[in-house]
Amino acid sequence: MEIRGVIFDLDGVLCHTDHYHYLAWKALADRLGLPFDERVNDRLRGVSRMDSLEIVLSLGEKQFTQAEKEQMAEEKNRRYRSYLAKMGPEALAPGAVDVLRDLKAQGWKLAVGSSSKNAPLILERTGLEGYFDTVADGSQITRSKPDPEVFLLAARKLNLCPSECIVVEDAVAGIQAAKAGGFFAVGIGDAANAPGADASISGLKEIPILCKKFRMPL
Ligand code: BG6
Ligand code: MG
Repeated sequence: MEIRGVIFDLDGVLCHTDHYHYLAWKALADRLGLPFDERVNDRLRGVSRMDSLEIVLSLGEKQFTQAEKEQMAEEKNRRYRSYLAKMGPEALAPGAVDVLRDLKAQGWKLAVGSSSKNAPLILERTGLEGYFDTVADGSQITRSKPDPEVFLLAARKLNLCPSECIVVEDAVAGIQAAKAGGFFAVGIGDAANAPGADASISGLKEIPILCKKFRMPL
């Protein structure tokens, strides 16, 4: 295998926005009288905003129109973005900047592959903008993870084949997406023991070590 690129999921891998997603969904669920908790929140990892809303609404019986659902998604996103607006580099996962700097210096191509439409704001708030050759995010795709679309787009934008890229993911849906697209899937955090993952790591600092096992990029 000749690996030349690393595609990082964003939420839950490079930075910790999970709690802000949780708080924003929780506020909506409370208003609707739905029993939302951290366990349900874990099921939303890697899943698009509208698909996440469907999971939240499935906690109750009530049916809603498309217009009502769009309003709810907007309400959640407004609250979520108000948390992001106050967030800074302290939200980064331990070692994130060092690892990205290290990989970049060694010549690896780097991309973000995220289901989030807020990826540009998160990259700006955390100061990660300059580290990536390209970003593929929720605003550029029509099918969210476990569909491989976002990772295939990231690889295409890097001018690499899936078999030349490692994908780093914290979501089971993300590992499934990576495998469906033909990528080498590395699980971290919640997805550390995900079925189908090709490797598992306990922290970002293990990535350069993992990369060294493969042939160095030209
Ligand atoms: C993913 C998160 O990165 O982005 C999901 O893991 C989230 O939980 C999805 O639902 C979409 O995010 P956004 O920011 O577009 O609402
Ligand atoms: Mg994630």
